[in-house]
Amino acid sequence: MSAPNIDTIVSLAKRRGFVYPSSEIYGGLGSAWDYGPLGAELCGNVRAAWWRWMVHERDDIEGLDSSIILNRLVWKYSGHEETFTDPLVDCRECNSRFRADKLEQEWAQRWTPGGADGLQVIVIPAGSALRGGKIKCPNCGKTNWTEPRDFNLMFRTHVGATAEDDEDALVYLRPETAQGIFINFLNILNTSRRKLPFGVAQIGKSFRNEVTPGNFIFRTREFEQMEMEYFVRPGEDEQAHQEWIDACRQWFLDIGISAGNLRLYEQPEEELAHYAKRTVDIQYRFFPEREDEERHWDELMGIANRTDFDLKTHSKKPEDAEGKRLNPDSTEDLSYFDEQTKQRFYPYVIEPAAGVNRTVLALLMDAYAEKTNDKGETRVILKLHHSIAPIKVAVLPLAKNKPEIVGMAKAIKRSLQPIMRAVYDDTGGIGKLYARQDEVGTPFCVTVDHQSLEDEAVTVRDRDTWEQERVKVSELPTYLLQRFSPGS
Ligand code: GAP
Repeated sequence: MSAPNIDTIVSLAKRRGFVYPSSEIYGGLGSAWDYGPLGAELCGNVRAAWWRWMVHERDDIEGLDSSIILNRLVWKYSGHEETFTDPLVDCRECNSRFRADKLEQEWAQRWTPGGADGLQVIVIPAGSALRGGKIKCPNCGKTNWTEPRDFNLMFRTHVGATAEDDEDALVYLRPETAQGIFINFLNILNTSRRKLPFGVAQIGKSFRNEVTPGNFIFRTREFEQMEMEYFVRPGEDEQAHQEWIDACRQWFLDIGISAGNLRLYEQPEEELAHYAKRTVDIQYRFFPEREDEERHWDELMGIANRTDFDLKTHSKKPEDAEGKRLNPDSTEDLSYFDEQTKQRFYPYVIEPAAGVNRTVLALLMDAYAEKTNDKGETRVILKLHHSIAPIKVAVLPLAKNKPEIVGMAKAIKRSLQPIMRAVYDDTGGIGKLYARQDEVGTPFCVTVDHQSLEDEAVTVRDRDTWEQERVKVSELPTYLLQRFSPGS
């Protein structure tokens, strides 16, 4: 089982302290969310799992943490100033604003005979269906649209004590972490003495002034990315790309997402970014409630073959047909000298790019389950993979008015905390405490009872089966570590 819709997760997330609407006491801020005690742990576990898999468990990847605010020229030469735009249309009747491409795409999917399977989206010249009066405003149902116009998604700000309109002080909040990696290519190459193929990974916040944010934490204006740029010899790019597609899909399976809720989506040529030779998205079934199966899916991550576009565009050497430098502002050449072939070239880049927040949403949806107890009551269980669960073990006293039991439970919690995230809770009866831990995905509950004072043993309860086992306190750390799945 997984969650029937995102709304189920929104309510669980708020009730249990995973995610709250941001700035709520001032009326909120559209599509901004704050991660509560359990959400902060969950995001941390996703980042840690990705970093361990991507950096620590491989021999060919380095890590990086670059600035959010970069020199504006980075975004000029990356192409973001010119092309990082969404086409907008306004409804002249009700003044609602939409992304023209999304309206067109939804219209096309709805009206393609047999339904599009994602690989066969029909291409309509931008705006034509809107102009032709075929697409109705989702808000008011009229078809009176403005012409589509481009809107740049980068957030603008100014550095230093300067006037708001001082163009020289204009900077952007990064819309992707990737560019920080490209501009550090030489630094990393020189300090790590890497040979191709190798990669650089980065996790960090990105910002996009999205026109239509929404669906909880699926699309927000501030979000977190986990990106890796894998540099390869031209000619070795296609194989490396396919290997990363397969590896990324496997990673999502390894952190507990079910295969039936994942699929690969080959971006058709007209959807490809200006730098991409091929891009495959890993999609998750974020919208299972939608009638049309095709509309269940949306992007969880993208894996792009960015060719040599990035290193070339940030290099001082490349010239146009007239011998004019394409980038007169760069002070470096980001080419690579291959000792093997004695040739100098710009490496190709394979880029697996995932979002922390979308991964968290997919994990919460996928882990959601309901179970009925002996009394016929339905309980929510979050069957999170052990490595992702915010709390690994909860230590609960059966009687909170018995100082010996409370003391023993607290001592057990302290003994476990150096090796796993453990909590102590005595804020309710044992049934309530179990239900609460099930609902936040805690794999094991340890209960200290009267008998524990005699036999130095506790009851360990399994979240998924509700089975209980008696374990000696002295053996508890080893027992729990053995029961955790690999990678926890
Ligand atoms: N460097 C390539 C790049 O940024 P992308 O497909 O635009 O590619 C990668 O972004 C991932 O970042 C997406 O698959 C998604 O998980 C996440 N992401 C992008 N925009 C987002 C947004 N507005 N809100 C939440 N996550 C977002």
